[in-house]
Amino acid sequence: MPVAVSIQEEILALKRERNAMILAHHYQEPEIQELADAIGDSLELARKAQQYAGDVIAFCGVWFMAETAKVLNPHRTVVVPDREAGCSLVDACPADQLRAVKRRHPDHAVVSYINTSVDVKAESDIICTSRNAVAVVNSIPADKPILFLPDVNLGNWVQKQTGRQNMKIWQGACIVHATFAGRKLAEAKAKFPDALVAAHPECPPEVLRQADYIGSTSGIIQWCATAPADDIIVMTESGVSHSLQRVAPGKRFHFVPNENCNCSECPYMKRNSLEKLAGCLRTLEPRVELSPETIERARLPIERMLAVK
Ligand code: 13P
Ligand code: SF4
Repeated sequence: MPVAVSIQEEILALKRERNAMILAHHYQEPEIQELADAIGDSLELARKAQQYAGDVIAFCGVWFMAETAKVLNPHRTVVVPDREAGCSLVDACPADQLRAVKRRHPDHAVVSYINTSVDVKAESDIICTSRNAVAVVNSIPADKPILFLPDVNLGNWVQKQTGRQNMKIWQGACIVHATFAGRKLAEAKAKFPDALVAAHPECPPEVLRQADYIGSTSGIIQWCATAPADDIIVMTESGVSHSLQRVAPGKRFHFVPNENCNCSECPYMKRNSLEKLAGCLRTLEPRVELSPETIERARLPIERMLAVK
């Protein structure tokens, strides 16, 4: 009689067979994170992809992250569990609209958040993530005007941090973070008066104003580990709770539901599942395919970002 194999065992066997690495963003379901070779924020996962030497990357996150991994690994296979795992920020900035804006402002340096399509990256001077956006903007000569895209909240926050006046900011938003309400955060603070607040910079200004710490997904996790509080209100996607429990098992983490779904979950990130992960390792589909020209054009702005300390 054949021995029953769990889905986790099947994935690990496929991973060995394919000489594959599984990358998972912090917003993935815990059972996916448990099987990953690396878990991280978008910058850490891009760096992992840059250092990779195997045959296949199974990227458990969203499509733009897998595209970035492919640009950094043109001769390797990059697969995703679900092709429809997109991002509202990518949708907010189509490449043809960016080309039209660039024609009107040819003197501007284009700084694009990593949450953009590969075609937008190919039109950009440098990429940034929430972790390094301030350093990236500061790396551009002060007299050079900047077009920052596509996240309006991140852009406004970076402008405040850098004091940069000559910055045009695209008006895109994340459907998860931008719908966190300042009023609901204030209610949570009243309920947990000793709590500190950590927030992702994609949150609106009325949320960021109430935060004790603002940073990327991994930045939030690292800060929570040592922050002097037993209760922390976390204004980001609730998938981080898995890593938070690991780094700070004694603390209590509170998530404030957003106005859209009354939850704190990214519907795109949550499209991935163990079954779909097994499927993409088995069939090597859906797979990221990019033209050599697109890879060549998108690689430079990504590598410029990776060189910023
Ligand atoms: P991080 O760069 O913090 O991983 O953020 C990516 C993202 O999609 C946030 O919603
Ligand atoms: Fe995009 Fe927001 Fe989801 Fe992050 S949380 S992948 S920014 S929609």
